[in-house]
Amino acid sequence: MTEKTITVFIYLPGETIAVPAGLFTHSSESGIGTFAYGRRYIERKNALPVDPIALPLGVLPQPVSINGGLYGVFRDAAPDYWGRLIISVAMSAPPEALSEADYLLAANATRAGNLDFRMSPRDPEPRLGPPHFNTLPDIMDAAEKIGSGRKADQNLFQLLRQGSSLGGARPKCTVEWEDGLWIAKFPAKGDSLNIPRIEYAAMNLAGRCGIRIPEVRVISVGKKDVFMIRRFDREKSGDAWLRQGFLSGLSLMQWDERDRMRWDYPAIADAMRRYTTAEDIRELFRRMIFNILVRNTDDHPRNHGFLTDAGKISLSPAYDIVPAPSRAGIGTDFYLAMSVGDKGRQATLKNALSRAARFGISNEEAFDIVGRLRGMVCNWREHFEAHGVSAIEADMLAPSFERCHETLI
Ligand SMILES: Nc1ncnc2c1ncn2[C@@H]1O[C@H](COP(=O)(O)OP(=O)(O)OP(=O)(O)O)[C@@H](O)[C@H]1O
Ligand SMILES: [Mg+2]
Repeated sequence: MTEKTITVFIYLPGETIAVPAGLFTHSSESGIGTFAYGRRYIERKNALPVDPIALPLGVLPQPVSINGGLYGVFRDAAPDYWGRLIISVAMSAPPEALSEADYLLAANATRAGNLDFRMSPRDPEPRLGPPHFNTLPDIMDAAEKIGSGRKADQNLFQLLRQGSSLGGARPKCTVEWEDGLWIAKFPAKGDSLNIPRIEYAAMNLAGRCGIRIPEVRVISVGKKDVFMIRRFDREKSGDAWLRQGFLSGLSLMQWDERDRMRWDYPAIADAMRRYTTAEDIRELFRRMIFNILVRNTDDHPRNHGFLTDAGKISLSPAYDIVPAPSRAGIGTDFYLAMSVGDKGRQATLKNALSRAARFGISNEEAFDIVGRLRGMVCNWREHFEAHGVSAIEADMLAPSFERCHETLI
């Protein structure tokens, strides 16, 4: 059967038990999805849209054919490469044999945002919660085995699975730690640098540049460093979790994941004018400049996020900022994943300055922001070494910071 109908649940503000909001029918053959709100849900005083952009309340929902037939927020709540690998292993099926609806149903309480997907409106809350921090050595053992195509111990695999419904390609697991939920990001097979520690240093540097970041740490498990980042879409409430709605930049713009030509920072700024504060738009500008300065070329629109709180949309704290290694002497040109200015994706400060007005920023102010960020990032080596990146790795990263020396006039 290529068509499946599943129930979409939502955790409303202040509630730790989800309520059914409507039915989603998805055809894997045509790649088209259709959602309809339930009448009882719509009548609730505190009803919120399950996707504020694609499925506003009071408007007849339209079928969706982009992104494999998933509405943006549904896609954001689904797993990506890593989570799909874990689910396909659990179901003993090749990843391509499972449909989008299968992945939505199989993902669990650690998925992004405030939605859940169940077979029937009567299905109860999921029984298994995220694993505890103390089990990380076991979880990492299982993750390493699965990442290299081997079999993992069944009990350890179960722990990994419980924490693996978030998006992204890198190996990771959501764990409960202290009073919150954290994402533990592991080293990946084939990493030639200590990426967890580099991500830790880069995120902290972003924080010093006035970019809002979640709490981040680095811990050692055996000989391996693990990057820990606190989840901004969960808050503990008794034995359960309160959840905030999450939508990626891709969903805010209703872009298709394959339609890279349309990805564009100033276009996101234009859309943000309708939904967020002016300060959030200025922050997007800072993030774009920072991505150029540290050569974070994986700044695709799903690596930008928004939170919804009782229907209001705001820019989420930043995540997944990692300098891409570049080899010295191979040429200094590089491109971000999204267009930044008159010269498209070309990653130069000059190009980024060309469209500052679209972010509501005057030329003078834009120069000022770039100057301040550049002043901070120029000292990256000292900062990275103070955060435990080795001198050898810093040498290897040096070509990635060439834009700190770009001449602007
Ligand atoms: N601190 C956080 N709180 C809540 N959700 C987060 C947080 N950080 C990341 N996410 C969500 O988890 C997803 C995966 O995280 P992240 O982008 O860091 O992983 P990744 O595997 O490095 O991704 P990519 O495939 O882009 O390289 C993000 O796209 C976002 O939806
Ligand atoms: Mg990512």
